[in-house]
Amino acid sequence: MAQVAYCGLGVMGAPMARHLAQAGHEVRVHNRTASKMHDLASIAVVTPCSSPQDAARGADIVMLCVGNDDDVRSVVFGEHGVVHGLSRGAVVVDHTTTSADLSREVSRRLAEIGVDFVDAPVSGGQAGAENGTLTVMCGSDSAGAFDKVAPVIDAYAKSCVLLGSAGSGQLAKMVNQICIAGVLEGLAEGLNFAVAAGLDAHAVVDVISKGAAQSWQMENRGHTMIDGKFDFGFAVEWMKKDLSYALSEAARLGAPVPLAAEVLSFYEELMNAGDSRSDTSSLVRRYRR
Ligand SMILES: NC(=O)c1ccc[n+]([C@@H]2O[C@H](COP(=O)([O-])OP(=O)(O)OC[C@H]3O[C@@H](n4cnc5c(N)ncnc54)[C@H](OP(=O)(O)O)[C@@H]3O)[C@@H](O)[C@H]2O)c1
Repeated sequence: MAQVAYCGLGVMGAPMARHLAQAGHEVRVHNRTASKMHDLASIAVVTPCSSPQDAARGADIVMLCVGNDDDVRSVVFGEHGVVHGLSRGAVVVDHTTTSADLSREVSRRLAEIGVDFVDAPVSGGQAGAENGTLTVMCGSDSAGAFDKVAPVIDAYAKSCVLLGSAGSGQLAKMVNQICIAGVLEGLAEGLNFAVAAGLDAHAVVDVISKGAAQSWQMENRGHTMIDGKFDFGFAVEWMKKDLSYALSEAARLGAPVPLAAEVLSFYEELMNAGDSRSDTSSLVRRYRR
């Protein structure tokens, strides 16, 4: 069993920390909004800590799942950040979806103080975190660090794979988001077409999800898109962040992503209309005016 620190107890982080405690690890937690630490402590054996620095003291592994690049910098390197509590030989695992550049930067800065880093963004959403069935895409400059953390990540993952050096996990997550953007746009157009044609759109989803058009999005979001329900899931503002990182990387690589770029502009439209916390399937709203 490991001594683990977990910082960032949001929609994703809280259930991951709960699974770690339930697997028998000793878990110290920190969250900016203290009430979330106490909520978690009421259902799992975790120790609330006053800062990331405090949580990281004595930890073999420090995990975090916060918002974006700047949030990770602040939690790891800020005034009471993780680095001030870390011991040499510890490993930091970042489950936040960030840019690949941020992962390389954090990896380099931590290596200077004898600490290994694994970027480990996840896929599977809130349900995957709650059920302990996340897919975890990892990058690290230390295969030994990955071998150390993978059995611990097992507490909430159905798959955890090392894809290359630091930043590779984030690059794989960008592939994931580029693919999802295209699938969601296709689904939004198709469902709108079904309604315009006067078909029973629910019946259409039921039948075509057994054929070649089947997707996770169709099975898990098709019916709620038809019903106009979006107050759950993966927020539009997170998808905008993720696609922005992917587009910057694509430009650097010279890899064209025209569809992802267009879908990003659609999400920007939704956000400008005040819709930033709805699920990404709310893309279909563009066709319901
Ligand atoms: N939700 C999903 O379905 C999903 C799926 C895959 C990946 N992700 C990624 O996972 C990450 C977290 O998503 P989430 O849905 O769990 O978000 P969330 O519910 O908003 O939680 C974010 C957490 O980070 C903390 N935080 C943010 N900025 C911080 C800062 N500067 N300093 C300290 N703490 C900070 C927040 O603290 P407070 O409680 O004080 O606000 C909160 O605990 C994002 O990068 C997202 O893209 C999410």
